[in-house]
Amino acid sequence: MVEPEVNDMKLNEVVVLVTGANRGLGRALVEAFLRAGARKVYAGARDPAQLEGVAQTAEGRVVPLAIDITSAASLAAAAAKAGDVGVLVNNAGVLASFDVLTSPLEHVQKDFDTNFYGTLAATKAFLPALERAAAEGREAALVNVLSVASLASVPAIGTYSASKAAAFSLTQALRVGLGQKGIRVHGVLAGAIDTDMVRAMDMAKTSPHDVAQGILDGLRHGHDDIAPDPMARPLLDLWKTDPKAVERQLGTMT
Ligand SMILES: NC(=O)c1ccc[n+]([C@@H]2O[C@H](COP(=O)([O-])OP(=O)(O)OC[C@H]3O[C@@H](n4cnc5c(N)ncnc54)[C@H](OP(=O)(O)O)[C@@H]3O)[C@@H](O)[C@H]2O)c1
Repeated sequence: MVEPEVNDMKLNEVVVLVTGANRGLGRALVEAFLRAGARKVYAGARDPAQLEGVAQTAEGRVVPLAIDITSAASLAAAAAKAGDVGVLVNNAGVLASFDVLTSPLEHVQKDFDTNFYGTLAATKAFLPALERAAAEGREAALVNVLSVASLASVPAIGTYSASKAAAFSLTQALRVGLGQKGIRVHGVLAGAIDTDMVRAMDMAKTSPHDVAQGILDGLRHGHDDIAPDPMARPLLDLWKTDPKAVERQLGTMT
């Protein structure tokens, strides 16, 4: 069987969908794809009214879309409206649980419902569109926003880390099979980002604008695993040669 060729992404040709696009990294990703010349950006949000500001400045290239990734009905309705999507960015996520031993089970479940099951459900909902794009020779890719905590656990957010590790495994599970269909699969191993999610945590953080730019650079260069910020880059490099050292380093983070 001849495998379709998978090239680095031409950002000015993409029709992309970003989930969780109303704030934080998702919003910055919408703006970064627009700056890169994307043909169309579907901006997914649980409350699309929060997307008005982005849509107004984009000369019709932004299409707001109601998407709750934990709702099968919401995903099916969105997929029916966005059949030309070629690049899906699974950005929507939550940080609802923390310490492995003390986090209430329903908070742990919320992290897994969104970060793992939601990411899987969104991928399955839009896969027919991605397959169509690949078959027609358009840009086709799946981009999962993960975390350095996918590489090794950060105990202070141990259950969130587990949900992001599961999403990393999901990303790896899809890479070969989708690659054979011409759909590139990327994982974004992001470090701390200056958004609402970690507002209460006192630590060095990178701006969502810079992280979004780092993600697009990774896509442009065709990297499977993208480290989009100064915290993530050395950790990803170390993980490639000494994963136990990453475990020790993240294990002592408070
Ligand atoms: N901030 C960090 O330090 C950091 C580090 C590494 C990775 N990440 C990852 O980066 C991604 C973006 O996070 P962020 O930092 O931008 O956080 P954020 O500011 O809290 O934004 C989270 C976004 O996800 C959306 N969302 C949550 N649950 C959803 C659902 N069920 N359906 C659809 N959308 C949903 C939120 O929508 P609503 O406004 O409706 O809640 C919001 O738009 C997440 O996957 C996160 O795990 C963040």
